[in-house]
Amino acid sequence: MKDEVILAIETSCDETAIALLRNGKELLANSVNTQIEDHKRFGGVYPELASRLHLENIDSVLSYVLSLKGFDIHSITHVAVTGGPGLPGALQIGAMAAKTLAQYLHVPLVDVHHLAGHIYANEFAGEFRYPLLAIVVSGGNSELVYLPRPFEFHILGETEDDAIGEALDKVARSLGLPYPGGVHIDKLTKDQDIESFDLPKPKVKGYDLSYSGLKSHLLRLIEKEKKENGGTLSEKRVKEIAFSAEKSFVEQLLDRAELIKNDYPVKMIVVGGGVSANSYLRKRIYERIKDVEILIPPLWCTTDNAAMIAMAAHHMIEKKILSPLSFKTRPNRNLEEE
Ligand code: KG4
Repeated sequence: MKDEVILAIETSCDETAIALLRNGKELLANSVNTQIEDHKRFGGVYPELASRLHLENIDSVLSYVLSLKGFDIHSITHVAVTGGPGLPGALQIGAMAAKTLAQYLHVPLVDVHHLAGHIYANEFAGEFRYPLLAIVVSGGNSELVYLPRPFEFHILGETEDDAIGEALDKVARSLGLPYPGGVHIDKLTKDQDIESFDLPKPKVKGYDLSYSGLKSHLLRLIEKEKKENGGTLSEKRVKEIAFSAEKSFVEQLLDRAELIKNDYPVKMIVVGGGVSANSYLRKRIYERIKDVEILIPPLWCTTDNAAMIAMAAHHMIEKKILSPLSFKTRPNRNLEEE
């Protein structure tokens, strides 16, 4: 039988990424061009700049991937692309490139949900066992997704306000840490013995999450302490606040995962999205969740990349979920509609 070779494109936010995946297993190429340095001075992703940089960079990322030694472009059997959710202008650049390639190569197109990619990134760490619970945590999402079968998504819980990464980034910014704050909070707190203090537990319904109240509480506390200390905080206090925030944010997530694990026949728990790189989360999940298998994505696969889009596309192809060349990107796409 002919090998399945997927070329996948991801441009939903601030990474221009292209990957090649053979038979759902062999990652032939995985190239990521990150724009983080370009957005730093804005303290977050500047959408118009993101689109312009995708347009500037996508051809060099593509030619790098296609220059793989001995690789024949005509061995590509499918082109996959992130069609949402994401920044509207940024999504369009990837979609346009994918449509052109699919048309040129006469191969089917696969329109992938970004979060399905973050979930299936875990398959680079091991094989899935269903029913499965996926904890999806990024700058824009905090969701607890139940998959009774491959590629069937039920959102059991989600944030009622801010996403975990977004809230963490704002606390970090107020502490004077650079963008993206979650990364710097992690750097500051890992492998260290730091004191922490308890934060109030938000009241939410069911398996939902809430980070906005905690964020506001922390921002007020930081401002108050800065005022009392001549506008700055000691290095020790910055670490204590950062660690307390990280701890309470992650524990809330694991509280909900534990509840779901007790109420549903979950066989495996996986974690995806930028915040899944967090060292505290990656350690605590094994300490708190017992009796079910846990998979965490390799660190290289936690931030946006196209390998995870290719892996999700592999499962879509198995289920014959293909898209016409005329498909439209959907910036506010819902995972349950997949
Ligand atoms: O998935 P992602 O790369 O982009 C989207 O939001 O789609 O996630 C970015 C988020 C940011 O909020 C960033 O601070 C957070 O993930 N993040 C982390 C870590 N690495 C990235 N948060 C905590 N610890 C980390 N190691």
